[in-house]
Amino acid sequence: MLKAAASKYRPFPQIQLPERQWPGRVLSAPPTWCSVDLRDGNQALAVPMNVSQKLELFDALVRCGFKEIEVGFPSASNTEFTFIRRLIEEGRIPDDVTIQVLVQAREDLIDRTVHSLIGAKRSIIHLYNSTSPAQRRVVFGLSQPEIIEVARRGTRWIKDRLPLLSESQVRLEYSPESFSATEVEFSCDICTAVMEVWQPTVEHPIILNLPDTVEVAMPNVYADQIEWMIRHLPHRDRAIISVHTHNDRGTGVAATELALLAGAERVEGTLFGNGERTGNLDLVTVALNLYMHGIDPGLELGDISSLRDVYERCTGMTVPPRQPYAGELVFTAFSGSHQDAIKKGLQAWEKSTESGATPNWDVPYLAIDPADLGREYREVIRVNSQSGKGGVAYLLEREFGIELPKEMQREFGPIANDAVDRLGREVRGEELRAMFWREYVERTSPWKLDEFHVERKGGAVACSAHLRQNGISHQISGEGNGPIASFVHALVRHGVPRFEVVDYREHALGAGEGASAIAYIQIRLADGRALWGAGVDTNMELASIQAILSAVNRSEARPLK
Ligand code: KIV
Ligand code: ZN
Repeated sequence: MLKAAASKYRPFPQIQLPERQWPGRVLSAPPTWCSVDLRDGNQALAVPMNVSQKLELFDALVRCGFKEIEVGFPSASNTEFTFIRRLIEEGRIPDDVTIQVLVQAREDLIDRTVHSLIGAKRSIIHLYNSTSPAQRRVVFGLSQPEIIEVARRGTRWIKDRLPLLSESQVRLEYSPESFSATEVEFSCDICTAVMEVWQPTVEHPIILNLPDTVEVAMPNVYADQIEWMIRHLPHRDRAIISVHTHNDRGTGVAATELALLAGAERVEGTLFGNGERTGNLDLVTVALNLYMHGIDPGLELGDISSLRDVYERCTGMTVPPRQPYAGELVFTAFSGSHQDAIKKGLQAWEKSTESGATPNWDVPYLAIDPADLGREYREVIRVNSQSGKGGVAYLLEREFGIELPKEMQREFGPIANDAVDRLGREVRGEELRAMFWREYVERTSPWKLDEFHVERKGGAVACSAHLRQNGISHQISGEGNGPIASFVHALVRHGVPRFEVVDYREHALGAGEGASAIAYIQIRLADGRALWGAGVDTNMELASIQAILSAVNRSEARPLK
């Protein structure tokens, strides 16, 4: 790379737009959406879609609620021509859906394009020619008036052929291609010239699509260009202003959103941002960005994973795991503090909906309720070595109903993290439960319980137990004011180093006949160390006795590997 970048590249010139209005505006309604998946998206595929893939994707777009769908470039490929004819002849286009076709300003191409549309109820013919200084100079070698004449001629050729489509409602879309790299004054002149030929009316407006063909500036500059056009275009009320952004600088979504603030009414793009180079605008993201601000986008994205599957099957592309809303990992929390906050946020959310009210969504780290997209936070949570105690506890509770006491979470969290760290990968709930079992429930060495009996005499309890210590049998007995106290007494009397029980919790694990109970016990040793133990049994009393042994065994053992 050059140290003196300025010797090769220059800043993008500012648009002179005093008192620009868009920065102060707020979006309150969705635009008209137009999917260009079957054209701009398709032309950018290593292996373009075949007719059956295109049909499947077309149906998915219709199900999503797109009312305008660019179905191809019929004069450029036989597959696209055939596909469009099948859509029309097989009656696959719902009455409220308008198909759109792209064409350059060449008479033979326009001829074939018009023929591809015969029989369609509603169509948009999308005419374009390039307008930027580089295209004019390097590619076409034409002056500004000559470039305008190309656009005029193309419009006239389309207009002349309208009688062939007399049974259809036909609209014209004109795109000054590379608009964002074109002088705004010239873009306005060429759009005006096209309008003069087409003669749109307020009732039958033209679509002026102002593309960010190659993203060359920051999104605020594109918004300025759009607002400038809207302010300067003669007969602005006879045009629908459409935007079509690409993503070369990674800000296609932002450019579209700011362009909407600037007054654009229509948005072209593709599902998940497929398209030439860095892609087209990702329509799904813009639509869901509106949704998460409380605006119904008018698209149905409630089963985003199925839509992603259709898209991936048809295009051969994959949606990256971090793709907003649709990516595999966007509802996965890896960080422990995030998991903890999400857990609390979800609990608070559920509580606040109990009264039947619909409070505003306000869950930390989840911009949107995954359920609205047919997704689940639950499905994707995992634990890795960075996950804090909260994440570990949440997973155990959610998957297995193991409700670790807070203090015990502090003890088991780092133990689980170390074990996961040694594995060098994430673990799922089942593996985490196995770690918990190994650390606490299966701690039967050196002491293992074979039998335990209690006898109650008034308020006192006498216990006898049969234990094995490293295989050697021991019969012990003790007294206390309850089974736990009597068992502690028996152990200490039998020579186990003195300890006291400082915390005790229990709860059922599951329901029904085979239900068991889990007990958690914290003991404190004479040296001040506090340790937890856990026991599981169908009998609650036995679970607590097992929990004491678990804690005692842990105090005598080195940490498990
Ligand atoms: O990106 C672009 O400029 C286009 C035009 C044909 C609208 O795709
Ligand atoms: Zn494009």
